Amino acid sequence: MRKVLLVSDNEILNDLYVLNLEVYTGTTVTVMNDSEAAIDFLKKNPDQDVVVSLNMINGQETASLIQNYLTSQALPYPFIVLGTLPKNMVNVINVPSTYNLQHFIRVVAKILGVTAKEMSEKKVTPFYPVPTKSVINLNEASCDLYLQTKRTDEDEDYILLLKKGSPVSFTVKKLYQDGVNLVYVNAFDRLVMVNQVSSKIINILKASDSPLENKIQAVSSGFEFVATQLVNSPEVSQEIMQLSQVCVKAMEDISKDSPSLRGLLNILSSSKESYLYVHSMMASYIAQHVVKNISWGGEGHVEKINFVLFFHDIMLGPIYLKYPHLKYEEDILFDERVADKDKEIVLNHARLSAEMMNSFKRAPLGADLLIKQHHGMTSGIGFALDYKDDISPLSKVVIIAESFVEEMMRVKDENPTAQIDVKVMMGFLSEKYKKHTYKKIIETLSTLRL
Ligand SMILES: [Fe+2]
Ligand SMILES: [Fe+2]
Repeated sequence: MRKVLLVSDNEILNDLYVLNLEVYTGTTVTVMNDSEAAIDFLKKNPDQDVVVSLNMINGQETASLIQNYLTSQALPYPFIVLGTLPKNMVNVINVPSTYNLQHFIRVVAKILGVTAKEMSEKKVTPFYPVPTKSVINLNEASCDLYLQTKRTDEDEDYILLLKKGSPVSFTVKKLYQDGVNLVYVNAFDRLVMVNQVSSKIINILKASDSPLENKIQAVSSGFEFVATQLVNSPEVSQEIMQLSQVCVKAMEDISKDSPSLRGLLNILSSSKESYLYVHSMMASYIAQHVVKNISWGGEGHVEKINFVLFFHDIMLGPIYLKYPHLKYEEDILFDERVADKDKEIVLNHARLSAEMMNSFKRAPLGADLLIKQHHGMTSGIGFALDYKDDISPLSKVVIIAESFVEEMMRVKDENPTAQIDVKVMMGFLSEKYKKHTYKKIIETLSTLRL
């Protein structure tokens, strides 16, 4: 097997370089963290095929030091320098961008005579997205995982991130912290991943001794996972159906076990959950309170309400993953950073999310209608300005619950230490929702555990 020496101290890059070099060029890679260690290694193991080095490590001109050594010993290896090439350096191959892995792998492949055909045989498209959050809690990957490195309309590219069976490493966690919200699996591995992620989440949610924080995080994982899977492939598998049902039931338990709305918000904020999940979970807490306290309501509505809140914005899932800064739904329409075609989805998300429920065999009766009306429009398109009586009473409950959450969070945005006053909130809602039927719902909030 051919050998590559890689001189780099960047742990994330090292993992990716080693994995992709091994898979695509069939080489064994040794990593050394600085020029001294590298030179020592070369003295003992001169039989390398390629030497690769970062231009600088810790302020040291690593590439220059190594090149001096190679020249002094008349060692003939092709030498690749990653990053900006130092002045006066000649007779080396330069890959200026350290994160352009494709380019780097192609350069090495060319040196070693590995053909493009041999390399492309290792890749199988298409790829499906999986939220990184669902992956970092797994012990090991049940299939190969990929990272998307380039995406334009006609071209996308992926590099291998983790091989099947290997432990979910530091690299994946670090990438997640750095804002990489999606990783990818091959089409034929998709069900394997769905099974693995679903059973992991279901186990946490079904264990009676899981702490509230863990349950909240597990539902959050389930929430993102179901959204990406359904939006990318609307036929609903048994596993996704089961995972959704367990999450919906867990939303009920979480609301019951939360001492107050503020306590729930604290846990949600401290684990940095996405706005999409935070507002759904909090709205569930409020909506459950309403249906238990309004004259026409009852326990029977709880499951339906939670189901609706789990799915009402499902079509927005991928959009929030793509633009993690997003918050309030209506504001997205005025956000210049969001592409027009994504705004189109936002405008239609109530209708589209409702349509997705057609293939969901075990949805509670009428849930799709409630989802369609959750912005006050009977068509499911757009956002109502004037809230009328032409929608179902339960849709009104969802609307008031979401509106309460949004206003509460806007107040907190302005002043994080602000105390929320139920009376003030009820006043705000009564101003916005003038019809008597909405007012009845608002009245039940006077006994809400804030
Ligand atoms: Fe919505
Ligand atoms: Fe929403």
